[in-house]
Amino acid sequence: MSLIEIKNLCHRYSGQEVLKNIDMELKKGELLALIGPTGAGKTTLLRLIGLLETPTSGRIYFDGIDVTASGRVRLEIRRRLAFVLQKPVVFNLSVYDNIACGLRWRGQRRGDIKEKVSRILEVIGLSATGNRNARTLSGGEAQRVAIARAIIVEPQILLLDEPTANLDPISVAKIEELISIISRQYKTTIVMATHDMSQGQRLADRIGVLVDGSMVQVGDSRQVFSFPRNRQVAEFVGIGNIIDGVIAASKAGVVTINSGGTVIEAISDYGVGEAVSACIRPEDIILSLSKTKSSARNSFTGQVKEVVLAGSLARVEIDCGLRLVALVTKKSADELKLKSGHRVCASFKASGVHVIKRN
Ligand SMILES: Nc1ncnc2c1ncn2[C@@H]1O[C@H](COP(=O)(O)OP(=O)(O)OP(=O)(O)O)[C@@H](O)[C@H]1O
Ligand SMILES: [Mg+2]
Repeated sequence: MSLIEIKNLCHRYSGQEVLKNIDMELKKGELLALIGPTGAGKTTLLRLIGLLETPTSGRIYFDGIDVTASGRVRLEIRRRLAFVLQKPVVFNLSVYDNIACGLRWRGQRRGDIKEKVSRILEVIGLSATGNRNARTLSGGEAQRVAIARAIIVEPQILLLDEPTANLDPISVAKIEELISIISRQYKTTIVMATHDMSQGQRLADRIGVLVDGSMVQVGDSRQVFSFPRNRQVAEFVGIGNIIDGVIAASKAGVVTINSGGTVIEAISDYGVGEAVSACIRPEDIILSLSKTKSSARNSFTGQVKEVVLAGSLARVEIDCGLRLVALVTKKSADELKLKSGHRVCASFKASGVHVIKRN
């Protein structure tokens, strides 16, 4: 059975629909990342799951118990939840006392508290700072203390809202490691909102994409990033090439898509006449100086429009009737002497094209 089950959840703020018909399930021990543009409703959904707010309509079940209405049940379930806000709140107390407070409220023995706090200080890498006032910590350290305080009471469900927003890369890495430990070792069920898609990809078992209050797709990272369900998701996850066309022919699962006279071959079940978009990830496009005898069914010659270097990679924009964006290593961009105005051949496999239906 699912630990959390959400059915037809809707939420409004002063008449404005913020969450629309959310259906979602979460298994015990699972880590779900919520991604989506700003204002999509990620924090609102976390607040509803965290029982900080009551939904306008719909149901939330914990272990099969409906927690949407009853006050008494909500209070009981609230004890099994921990919520870490985007801006970490630390009390004007020592790091140790910040982490220990939840255990003291629960009346645990001093010796047990000491042992648990020491262990967790080690996990978050702050053993040496136990006596320091938490208000003197850096943003990343304070966030780790806030997470430690949340998990020390061993919640069944941990809700994290943008746990690494506004942090430097080293702090981000430390917090990701901490989340990963909580997930794998403590087997805590986690729902985490994040702006950082690659973080979702690194940490989550499944990813939920929220757009304008709707859960447009829930799946593992391969499904979401390589097989987005619609254009909104494709754009949000940075598919790079989204080409509109119409299916002109279909044979044994291979379709040809006509896009303004240019023909793309793809694997798809959609029928002739269907209006579709062909999605191709920039890293799936291979560049060469002339047409090669490769297995790639799609091969177009065109002119380089722009080359933008980013670290060890080069983002190359090509006009070959279609506007294509390719991502190649800087080394291969150098070898191909890619410069704006040069001619180049862009190829991709039919299986590298993900076809989505247009509305
Ligand atoms: N208390 C509130 N009263 C009125 N409107 C609200 C309230 N909280 C959120 N909203 C609105 O609800 C929508 C969703 O907000 P929410 O904070 O859930 O988005 P989000 O996906 O978390 O965004 P971000 O990525 O910026 O954190 C927004 O349009 C926001 O302005
Ligand atoms: Mg938010």
